[in-house]
Amino acid sequence: MADATLLDQVKDRKNRADPYPLFARLRETPVSRQHDGTYVAATHAAVASLLYDPRISSETLPPSKRPLTGNPFTDWVVKPIRQHITDTHRPFIFRDPPDHDVLRGAVMHQFTRERVQAMRKRSDRLVADLLNEKCGAREIDIVDDLAYPLPVTVICELFGVPREDEPKFHGWATQLATALEPDSLDDDAVRAKNSRCFDEISAYMAGLIRDKRRHPGDDMLSGLANESAPGIGRMGDYDLVATSILMLVAGHETTVNLITNSMLTLMRHPEALERLRAEPGWAPRVLEEVQRFDPPVQFRTRKALADLAIEGTTIPEGAPVVLLFAAAGRDPQAYADPDRFDPDRHDNRHFGFGGSLHYCVGAPLARFETEAALAALAGRLQNPRLAEDPPYRPGAALRGPQHLRLAIDGIA
Ligand code: HEM
Repeated sequence: MADATLLDQVKDRKNRADPYPLFARLRETPVSRQHDGTYVAATHAAVASLLYDPRISSETLPPSKRPLTGNPFTDWVVKPIRQHITDTHRPFIFRDPPDHDVLRGAVMHQFTRERVQAMRKRSDRLVADLLNEKCGAREIDIVDDLAYPLPVTVICELFGVPREDEPKFHGWATQLATALEPDSLDDDAVRAKNSRCFDEISAYMAGLIRDKRRHPGDDMLSGLANESAPGIGRMGDYDLVATSILMLVAGHETTVNLITNSMLTLMRHPEALERLRAEPGWAPRVLEEVQRFDPPVQFRTRKALADLAIEGTTIPEGAPVVLLFAAAGRDPQAYADPDRFDPDRHDNRHFGFGGSLHYCVGAPLARFETEAALAALAGRLQNPRLAEDPPYRPGAALRGPQHLRLAIDGIA
């Protein structure tokens, strides 16, 4: 019975700053049943085994079977686009093969090397500009001043969203990220707010897609809206809206939190911050270690498609299964001295970007945005000091500080 409440404690806001002692207790039973019938996989071996098991499904909502092409916005007037998406055209993060693979394939087709390289250069420039705006300041909030604006601008530019509309995306991205929390659907107020927000963003995206069809640019949305992808042809309109919204939501708060968690960890490990200042090329190792040590995506939920026997437990068909990526990252069976932050470690097989079919499609973007931010912060902040223990955002699954205020002597 003691284990039955551990996941509730993980979700409890008062444990947001440090859920790791709870994860250690959860790991004592590799796969444990919670009082509500949810199963939690907490060790590295159990998470890996379930993540790669084809009998585990991402269709955690009722199934959404619909042809992927030829779904124009004709019946938009009958019900809002949001409803089409939630009823029948869910974003591919919530879908299984074959639909998942086809939709994901269409996105990957547009993630060309040229686009990624161009956004990499752009990220370096954006980071430099954001820090230049703070020159002369004696305090910086890593969240508001850098981590928050950077990814939204990157994804908007990649998708060809006009600059003047970017501020709208800030609000939408933050609100819709709450939908990734497991209990958000139980809260009427959150659901109502999400629905309004979904209506706004989907109507906006539908309009933008029409514009991109009339006047295609060289952005990713123009590509998705006008070009045929292998195995799918031209993506149906509702799937296109759902995919665009997914890219925005999945790529925003996650990146904010990776930059912020990384900077917080560096502030708590001054020797690592010093080394990064002297050696900016070390940033990739720092961020990969943060993905193990304190990842933004702490867990994801799946559903068992069959009875699954694992580590002495049988998960019954239909049961929700929580894959605790963050607990797996601290598993002593998988990592030497797991509670030590050590970017030079060689045993780092983290789940920070997930794994298997649903491995993060935006990982290259997330990596270079975070590298650019960390190298610049370490190099340019003069004598940074942690002004307070940071307050956390409400989310447990997508976890990170609301603000990270540092006192500084200036910005070089
Ligand atoms: C999937 C993490 C940035 C788009 C995932 C998954 C994780 C993850 C853990 C797997 C979800 C699952 O297994 O259910 C992160 C982190 C990021 C980041 C930590 C930033 C540091 C991005 C960016 C984008 C993006 C920048 C888009 C531009 C996606 C999409 C999926 C995904 C579309 C779904 C993939 C699928 O279902 O096949 N991400 N992500 N992510 N991510 Fe990311």
